[in-house]
Amino acid sequence: MRKRLRKLLLVFDIRLKEVNMTGEQWWQQAVVYQIYPRSFQDSNHDGIGDIPGIIARLPYLKSLGVQVIWLSPIYESPNDDNGYDISDYCRILPEFGTMADVQEMFSVAHRLGLKIMMDLVINHTSDEHAWFKASRQSKDNPYRQYYIWRDPVDGHEPNNWQSDFGGSAWAFDDTTQQYYLHLFSKKQPDLNWENPTLRHEIYSMMTWWLNQGVDGFRMDVINLLSKPVHFVDDPNVTTENHSSSMNFIANGPKIHAYLQEMNHEVLSKYDIITVGETPGVTTKDAIKYAGTTANELQMTFQFEHTEVDNSREGFGKWSDERFNLVTLKRILSKWQNDLYGKAWNSLYWNNHDRPRVVSRFGNDSDQYRVISAKMLATTLHFMQGTPYIYQGEEIGMTNVKWPSITQYKDIDTRNAYDDLVLKQKRMTPDKMMSYIYHSSRDNARTPMQWDKTLNAGFTDDKPWLPVNNNYSEINVSAALSDKQSLFYYYQKLIHLRQTMPPITTGKYVVLDIADDSVYAYRRISDDAQLLVISNFTEKMQKRHYERPDSATVLISNYDDDLGDTLRPYEAKVYLF
Ligand code: NOJ
Repeated sequence: MRKRLRKLLLVFDIRLKEVNMTGEQWWQQAVVYQIYPRSFQDSNHDGIGDIPGIIARLPYLKSLGVQVIWLSPIYESPNDDNGYDISDYCRILPEFGTMADVQEMFSVAHRLGLKIMMDLVINHTSDEHAWFKASRQSKDNPYRQYYIWRDPVDGHEPNNWQSDFGGSAWAFDDTTQQYYLHLFSKKQPDLNWENPTLRHEIYSMMTWWLNQGVDGFRMDVINLLSKPVHFVDDPNVTTENHSSSMNFIANGPKIHAYLQEMNHEVLSKYDIITVGETPGVTTKDAIKYAGTTANELQMTFQFEHTEVDNSREGFGKWSDERFNLVTLKRILSKWQNDLYGKAWNSLYWNNHDRPRVVSRFGNDSDQYRVISAKMLATTLHFMQGTPYIYQGEEIGMTNVKWPSITQYKDIDTRNAYDDLVLKQKRMTPDKMMSYIYHSSRDNARTPMQWDKTLNAGFTDDKPWLPVNNNYSEINVSAALSDKQSLFYYYQKLIHLRQTMPPITTGKYVVLDIADDSVYAYRRISDDAQLLVISNFTEKMQKRHYERPDSATVLISNYDDDLGDTLRPYEAKVYLF
């Protein structure tokens, strides 16, 4: 009898959660804005963005209308990978400010009704973290088991795994004559999640941050925590192909046990937002991580749509190929359909690791930059999921082209140039520079363009990374003084999401998936339907999609409606 009752309650609980997947959780109606603190706003004249700078700009984000801010890491770090190499989880990098500044940021944000989600980097630490310093001292140091150490095999690395930043994922340490694993730079040793003491230490740190007032976590490469059994070779690595082993290592055998434990120990005790960065996941995997009954995370960041223009020659993202719209539609539609009623999508075009979306999927020429950026925003913001806006996306910031590799700061870009051009001689410097213009992470990391004063109003000192030289035209101040600007278009999209339930709950149905110029889809709910139409080309197109005469245009990037005629990069949404 008791068993049956428990089973019934379980079914009921599952149903309740399914209902919630139709948009009843606060984070399902939220729009998130990502800040890359180093490049957002400097306040103390050192050329580096900081927390007081962020505080000063919170009213701007409030006026945009977002509900949540995701902060890339602000913890103490030697900055080998701009803060994704943490040397102390409970201290703030002095360049960014103090713990008192962080407290002030939380309280100002909360007063404005904004929530703050912190980046949580727990697949690895910096090699300057006290745990790693102790770990490398001797084989019997208590912290040895916090990291992944292996003996050489035949005088070489223990296996063929390749770091995501190029080269072997193993580094030899002279003191103890063993290798340690680093899936990113040598200064980012991987933590050993097999060790329960380490796991509980991380959970305490998370709890500490939640008690400081944090409203959620974005979890860095969270599906890499559990490594493949016996550390077998990555079959994709060959003499010709040295690309990252990340996707091979992802989704290891114990990952769900770890995340369920984390959920039980920490996450389930707070009403927070959680999103896991999960390279290489399929929709099936995503349901395991963030399904209604998974008890792990609320959302994942999948990578498939960001890989549409990857190299066909095995260089991963190092390519300058133009994406194919049909492939993009197939991927996004698959994620919309497969997760419907089962899990929740995160919707993003770009972040601090991806090039600027208007340069990549739109058209950043003077003529089409704003109109194509509005079209891209429309396409994404009417899908089901939680949208993420990356700083500067709302004013249409673009990629940069610097003439020399020495001007690039990103470790990933510099390592790739060293490996592919200098060491392996697999391409000419010119070819690699053209790939860098297309894909380098520095495209997204140039300082935020606030106004047309010196250094775009980001700093009055030398900025840590040069400002894009188009800042006198593309900046926040110009956007705020133009009622037709991209900023106000994003503001409207965000407002619509808050006020129009079908955007959160409707069923997605793609139209004419094989059309390689126009992306059209419907969102269907019981009492309303949305028809979203985006012309991805600079050519006029003629398309007819069924809709009643009573349909009204909810939003469009042109002033009038020409019915079946679509102008360059036109986007419109009908409601009926
Ligand atoms: C993913 C982060 O988004 C990226 O910026 C970082 O370099 C790697 N993880 C390593 O932490």
